[in-house]
Amino acid sequence: MMQHCKELSNMNQENATPESNDPVLLERSDGIAWITLNRPAKRNAISPPLVYRMVEVLAELEVDDSVKVVVLTGAGNAFSAGMDLRDYFRATDGKPAEQMKLFRANALWQWKQLRFFAKPTIAMVNGYCFGGAFTPLISCDLAAEESQFGLSEINWGIIPAGVVNRAVAQVMNERDAMYYVMTGEPFDGRKAAGMGLVNESVPADRLRARVTELAEVLKKKNPTVLRTAKIAYRNAAEMSWEQANDYLMAKNDQSVLHDPEKGRATAMSQFLDQKTFRPGLETYAR
Ligand code: ACO
Repeated sequence: MMQHCKELSNMNQENATPESNDPVLLERSDGIAWITLNRPAKRNAISPPLVYRMVEVLAELEVDDSVKVVVLTGAGNAFSAGMDLRDYFRATDGKPAEQMKLFRANALWQWKQLRFFAKPTIAMVNGYCFGGAFTPLISCDLAAEESQFGLSEINWGIIPAGVVNRAVAQVMNERDAMYYVMTGEPFDGRKAAGMGLVNESVPADRLRARVTELAEVLKKKNPTVLRTAKIAYRNAAEMSWEQANDYLMAKNDQSVLHDPEKGRATAMSQFLDQKTFRPGLETYAR
């Protein structure tokens, strides 16, 4: 999984529909929702219409029972070139009301919705990934990637704001993070994986297949437990040990009590009584 491939030119071309005015494409296929940021001519820079559409799309997918896993990717040769300097920043300079509405909506989809999304989310980073695009990247649970990353804010006179510096501090160590925050130097997918910014670096031509494989693994898990495990991890990471202990035990009780599949009892019986599966090596038969 650690191989790196420099050929990006054919990435995701099938997803690129430059003639479409919809800034976000949504495709549901076999339990997986593929969300494509769709402004390939602008390297999927995040514009106001894209922000507002993402809020809607994520809200819709979270309650769609047919969707088990969400994948976020970009059309053409970019995941996203970050916030749109023209439409997101310059166009709203000096318009505080418009800016507040826009910035709040952006925070909503980029981390408030995505970080605590009730289903697994995979960022399939297929190309350029800069600045503000780091927040949705880091908010996703798993990120396969192949691309060029950069905390490029310093290169054009701002700091990694929104919540980018905070998000980066969550997944990167201080020395790596500070180096890239201060230099704005771009780095490749292999480096991103080595620093823990993404889970894996895969060659471009295997990216979609590997993401699908991962989504299939997640689809087989008990969704009630998956949702609770994810949200409980995010919250517990910010608590004291004492608080985390109490909270996690309560969350586990909640998950077991509300699980319509009664997964814990079923799995225990399959292991102890029927001897048909080994929990160390696989998921129980659902
Ligand atoms: N904001 C606004 N427009 C953008 C952005 C952006 N973030 N990124 C690309 N575009 C536009 C370009 O202006 C250009 O538009 P045009 O065709 O109307 O002139 C088009 O997308 C293509 O961009 P090019 O620079 O021509 O494409 P290239 O493939 O040579 O380079 C790259 C791609 C490296 C991504 C370059 O566009 C770039 O550096 N973009 C800015 C990246 C960045 O620093 N983003 C901001 C991070 S900070 C933040 O998000 C808060």
